[in-house]
Amino acid sequence: MTIIVTGGAGFIGSNFIFYMRRAHPDHRIVCLDKLTYAGNLSTLAPVMESPSFRFVKGDICDRDAVEKLFAEEKPDTVVNFAAESHVDRSIEDPGVFLQTNILGTQVLMDACVKFAVKRFHQVSTDEVYGDLPLDRPDLLFTELTPLHASSPYSASKASADLLVLAYHRTYGLPVTISRCSNNYGPYQFPEKLIPLMISNALNDKPLPVYGKGLNVRDWLYVEDHCKAVDLILQNGRVGEVYNIGGHNEMRNIDIVRLICKELGKSERLITYVTDRKGHDLRYAIDPSKIHAELGWLPETDFEAGIVKTIQWYLAHREWWEEIISGEYREYYARMYGER
Ligand code: NAD
Ligand code: DAU
Repeated sequence: MTIIVTGGAGFIGSNFIFYMRRAHPDHRIVCLDKLTYAGNLSTLAPVMESPSFRFVKGDICDRDAVEKLFAEEKPDTVVNFAAESHVDRSIEDPGVFLQTNILGTQVLMDACVKFAVKRFHQVSTDEVYGDLPLDRPDLLFTELTPLHASSPYSASKASADLLVLAYHRTYGLPVTISRCSNNYGPYQFPEKLIPLMISNALNDKPLPVYGKGLNVRDWLYVEDHCKAVDLILQNGRVGEVYNIGGHNEMRNIDIVRLICKELGKSERLITYVTDRKGHDLRYAIDPSKIHAELGWLPETDFEAGIVKTIQWYLAHREWWEEIISGEYREYYARMYGER
């Protein structure tokens, strides 16, 4: 069994590669990643030398490179994690989001049709459903919730989802889609809420909370997401969408306070800054379909997962310090300087 994992040098893709190597040591895994600012080859160091792993630097939008790789590897399965993934960057510059997230997905699926790949799995997001009101805790996103994206990022992911389902209907491509809530855990790029707050707090820098910090996200430990994708690959029904989430809604401000507490830092570091444009209020996933059909349940609760994550960032300072000392400094000044 050969699996091409795109975006495997990023946060969830790398965790997925590590998970799959433990769960299926007999599989060959080929990682295709462009190594954008979010990709980090050092993350994959533990597997680079393995004969059942191959890393290929390349762009999912590059048709010739993708076809060459498919011809060489003849993959059984393709799992597409590759994406521009940060909402704030999509507000700054949407073009690359449309390019990679929509057209890159098309290039991969064309290659899957051409090389008769047995499964194309699209890693999507709960953000395609838009947001839920803060005062209706009874409302959750199901797979039947209409697509209603808010940001250029989520619109690009929703567009890709429509294209994936169209390739299934039109060309008979065996596809599945997963839509997961916010992930946290090791190797998350420090532009995202949790690692940004951990790294800033450790450096005694202000903790920039958007608006009043009352927006709600539904947090899932990254390994639970990886396990869900593996179950979908094994037993998921072709042509279906599966929501993934662990009923763990938290307000942003409560997460930031928790991080301060765990690190022994003063809440005086918290700074309220101008809100994100079009900021989604609340995400909340109904995971009953994946639970009923595939028996999936999250294994790591938030209390344990956040402590594990903070410990990881404490133990791997060199991983994130290298990132925040590079191009990230310009991004941070642009995004937060005048905010
Ligand atoms: P990430 O930004 O950490 O990693 C993205 C990876 O894709 C990087 O390694 C990058 O180099 C690579 N990449 C980007 N453009 C590429 C291209 N054109 N060709 C090849 N590789 C390219 O992202 P992440 O947080 O790991 O998210 C992975 C996927 O999961 C995305 O599709 C995202 O939409 C989805 N998702 C993320 C979350 C979350 O909370 N982070 C939740 C649900 C779904
Ligand atoms: O829901 C799944 C999505 O989760 C994924 O599809 C995206 O790829 C991923 O980036 C994430 O999107 P969010 O926008 O929810 O995540 P982010 O970490 O950027 O922000 C989480 C919340 O924290 C959001 O309400 C904005 C807020 N925030 C974020 C940052 C970076 C702050 O208050 N301050 C910050 O500095």
